[in-house]
Amino acid sequence: MLNRIIGTGSGLPARVLSNDELATRVDTSDEWITTRTGIRQRHIAAPGETASDLALRASRHALEMAGIDPQDLDLIIVATSTPDMVFPSTACILQHKLGAKGGAAFDVQAVCSGFVYALGIADAMMRGGTIRHALVVGAEVFSRILDWSDRGTCVLFGDGAGAAVLARDASRGILSAHLHADGSHRGILCVPGQIDSGAVTGTPYVHMEGNAVFKFAVRVLAEVAEEALAANHLPKSAIDWLIPHQANTRIIEATAKKLDMPMSRVVLTVAQHGNTSAASIPLALDQAVRDGRIQAGQHVMMVGVGGGFTWGSVLIKW
Ligand SMILES: CC(C)(COP(=O)(O)OP(=O)(O)OC[C@H]1O[C@@H](n2cnc3c(N)ncnc32)[C@H](O)[C@@H]1OP(=O)(O)O)[C@@H](O)C(=O)NCCC(=O)NCCS
Repeated sequence: MLNRIIGTGSGLPARVLSNDELATRVDTSDEWITTRTGIRQRHIAAPGETASDLALRASRHALEMAGIDPQDLDLIIVATSTPDMVFPSTACILQHKLGAKGGAAFDVQAVCSGFVYALGIADAMMRGGTIRHALVVGAEVFSRILDWSDRGTCVLFGDGAGAAVLARDASRGILSAHLHADGSHRGILCVPGQIDSGAVTGTPYVHMEGNAVFKFAVRVLAEVAEEALAANHLPKSAIDWLIPHQANTRIIEATAKKLDMPMSRVVLTVAQHGNTSAASIPLALDQAVRDGRIQAGQHVMMVGVGGGFTWGSVLIKW
């Protein structure tokens, strides 16, 4: 038995922040952001709107497509680096908002690789046989951990959530998950703050060494896709759709080139959403499922990379 995605959904905040509007706040321009990153706009959560609120919207859409009642979920995993609270997990808060109880619920923290990690974990748990339906969500409100006076980081990120519902299937579904981490690179992308005795110590904002991150991402994304192909005895040409983490068009183009893939077979949402961290891959997946690009029987390769550093792939026979 395999585990198949039977429903996808998106939850984006209503507020859209364009590059031009951002340029009225920090010393930047639409031209600089578009050329360097491909980003044209991002969605920003309203005051008080949390990761679980966005996750709820995405999950309802995914459950509706799947035709599954929330109470039938045996497992909820939320990938997030911007949880509602220190604890309980955003997954437990989401479970309650969905009106479900009793199944397992927990968060995964792998930053921008979070959705790929969560999907891999859900797949492994479901192979145990006791879980019939799982909900896997990537949900982020990165706008809360950005220093809005730092033009090197604030132009890159956005808020949102994407969700997928998994069910057992005899012939189609997740073929493999390959997950990796190397903590020696933890300093090049981090939020080095913590709560200590009632106060925040350290810096509660995203710190990034852009060039180092860029080079690392380009190397590992293609590598981990090739690892998945080799494990499944498939050639590069077998990938029908590449759904990479949506950080930067230039990183995605370099990855596609290494995989000998034309950009017409790569799902791109970075222009509309910016980098929504753990939400970026499920948001892109939902768009390509709903507009009919992804068809039954096709091979869909998801590749993620993020702080930690973490990286991974999930290969699906759709
Ligand atoms: C961040 C990134 C776009 C920067 O692009 P870059 O071409 O490497 O640019 P640099 O950092 O070398 O900066 C070049 C110049 O642009 C300036 N600059 C930085 N941000 C700017 C902005 N938003 N607007 C205008 N100028 C900016 C810098 O200050 C620098 O100016 P200087 O030459 O006078 O010092 C690029 O490094 C990148 O995409 N990195 C990966 C980011 C990422 O994907 N992170 C998430 C991974 S999960």
